[in-house]
Amino acid sequence: KRLILVGPPGSGKGTQSPIIKDEYCLCHLATGDMLRAAVAAKTPLGVKAKEAMERAKLVSDDLVVGIIDEAMKKPSCQKGFILDGFPRTVVQAEKLDEMLLKQGKKVDKVLNFAIDNAILEERITGRWIHPSSGRSYHTKFAPPKVHGIDDVTGEPLIQRKDDTAEVLKSRLEAFHKQTEPVIDYYAKKGAVAQLHAEKPPKEVTIEVQKVLS
Ligand code: AP5
Ligand code: ZN
Repeated sequence: KRLILVGPPGSGKGTQSPIIKDEYCLCHLATGDMLRAAVAAKTPLGVKAKEAMERAKLVSDDLVVGIIDEAMKKPSCQKGFILDGFPRTVVQAEKLDEMLLKQGKKVDKVLNFAIDNAILEERITGRWIHPSSGRSYHTKFAPPKVHGIDDVTGEPLIQRKDDTAEVLKSRLEAFHKQTEPVIDYYAKKGAVAQLHAEKPPKEVTIEVQKVLS
């Protein structure tokens, strides 16, 4: 399947992605994770992306479309994929559709992680991530076995620089202005499925499975 996950910061996209990936054997491309890795490695791409990310602005469409175009060439992404955090503007959505159309393909489903903004701050400020795998934990809702340590690798967890209440406000604003129109864009094509993203993770997973079955 070719899936897009869309929703505000902290709505649970990164939490559900690995589960969907394992079950449907797809490739998982998260532009946020890829950009953070590029920033950490100080690649030319990372240098360009860093400032926008720290100011909670979107990175330019050309940069992210380039990353996705390149990543989608991987053999594991030929049969299907999960895009997490992309497309985030209508321009990105149009470019993606063009890319797919050239191969006679289209997006199957857009999962909309609909949620009340009021509960996002607690999710964002309590999040800890394992940078190299993208796995995320939460001090209250999904604690690791040992505080500050990744369950799988034993490596340390970190908090994202943009995971503060202050920066969250700007991220939500960017979502509202630039990404909500993407949901309308796909709704017109009849591709959007609504999730109740405020429910506990396992219940959200069940909703996802219902949509995809
Ligand atoms: P990105 O990394 O994509 O961040 P985001 O969209 O703000 O989304 P998050 O990762 O914050 O939320 P999530 O939905 O994955 O939440 P999670 O599952 O971890 O982007 C970062 C930046 O990169 C952007 O600001 C931009 O600058 C740039 N960028 C990225 N893509 C771009 C693009 N296409 N174009 C331009 N710029 C781009 O959950 C959050 C927490 O809640 C976790 O601790 C988790 O354990 C917990 N949790 C999850 N689900 C539940 C639940 N059901 N109940 C209780 N707790 C839960
Ligand atoms: Zn994420």
